[in-house]
Amino acid sequence: MSAVIIVTGVTGQDGSHMVDYLLENTNHEIYGGVRRLSVPNHKNIEHVKSDRFKLISLDLTDSHSIEKNILKLKPDYFINFAAQSFVGASWDYPKQTFETNATAVLDILEAIKTHAPQCRFYNAGTSEEFGDIEYSPQDESHPLRPRSPYGASKAAARHLIKVYRESYDLYAVQGWLFNHEGVRRGEEFVTRKITKSVAKIKQAIDKNLEWEPLELGNLDAYRDWSDAEDFVDGVWKMVNQETPKDYVLSSGNAHTIREFVETAFRFVGIDGYWISSGIKERYKTTVVEQELVKINPKFYRPAEVECLLGNSEAARRDLNWEPKISFKCLVEKMVRNDQRQPE
Ligand code: GDD
Repeated sequence: MSAVIIVTGVTGQDGSHMVDYLLENTNHEIYGGVRRLSVPNHKNIEHVKSDRFKLISLDLTDSHSIEKNILKLKPDYFINFAAQSFVGASWDYPKQTFETNATAVLDILEAIKTHAPQCRFYNAGTSEEFGDIEYSPQDESHPLRPRSPYGASKAAARHLIKVYRESYDLYAVQGWLFNHEGVRRGEEFVTRKITKSVAKIKQAIDKNLEWEPLELGNLDAYRDWSDAEDFVDGVWKMVNQETPKDYVLSSGNAHTIREFVETAFRFVGIDGYWISSGIKERYKTTVVEQELVKINPKFYRPAEVECLLGNSEAARRDLNWEPKISFKCLVEKMVRNDQRQPE
């Protein structure tokens, strides 16, 4: 039987991969929620040509728009990938972050409870909820100790989902997704920022031109990176269990930003070395005089999550899920993609 699915955030990385995944693996009807913007940003869904996919106007910061869509479509699933997902910006826009990531979740839960109580709800949760970690690797029992307005907003959404699940018997879950990247990643996130810059610098070196060094903040943070395409499979499995339960999705390996930089440059044949330390630190290569990477303190955060490493054993066991793309393959895929699209 064909189900009706609302997916929000379809112009972003995760939402667009979810649409591809559902079109390929199910026969369901998908309604992709998009906000009305003066300049539409539909690049990630331009390739989708299916009469099972329709765009709907849905703005998470407007509870009427949430309610109207749920009332009209009576969805069987609501998969919420729309968010203010940039941790760094959440200090600049704490209220907008909270309203998009937490208050909107309350509005979705209320509308589902009132108009479509059979609807299965998935909300994008994050390892940032663990924040100031107590132990590694982090599993589903790790306390929530967020370090950013972003992490706090997602932790609040998690509590609301639990309350609605227990009070009204709704099927509502929120996975803890560790970092997940890919060729559709926004350029403000560190992985894509690095791979874009590596592609540009490599091109400049080959053409004997000058370039702008890549400017980064904290190089020492550890992140557990996976491929976003592997994660949408885990999300779909999470929202299709018999009883609703939240799971960690992660690779189980952590690398520093520094290692990501080294790996990305190595893929284009540039071996580098670090010199100096703190804000004077630089990444250089013997091939040319100009530096490849330097520190710009404006990219430091007011509070940092130093190490995220996930334990996804429960998801691997219960959902029969595992990530397929390794760290090295992910970096290579991103660098190659950016080399194909020079500025
Ligand atoms: N963005 C960015 N830009 N981050 C930098 C930079 C820089 O120039 N330099 C160093 N970093 C460090 C950040 O301080 C952080 O420790 C790490 O790189 C990763 O930053 P992001 O790529 O912005 O991702 P994130 O880990 O903060 O958040 C991502 O993963 C979460 C899951 O853990 C986002 O996708 C979140 O939405 C997601 O919930």
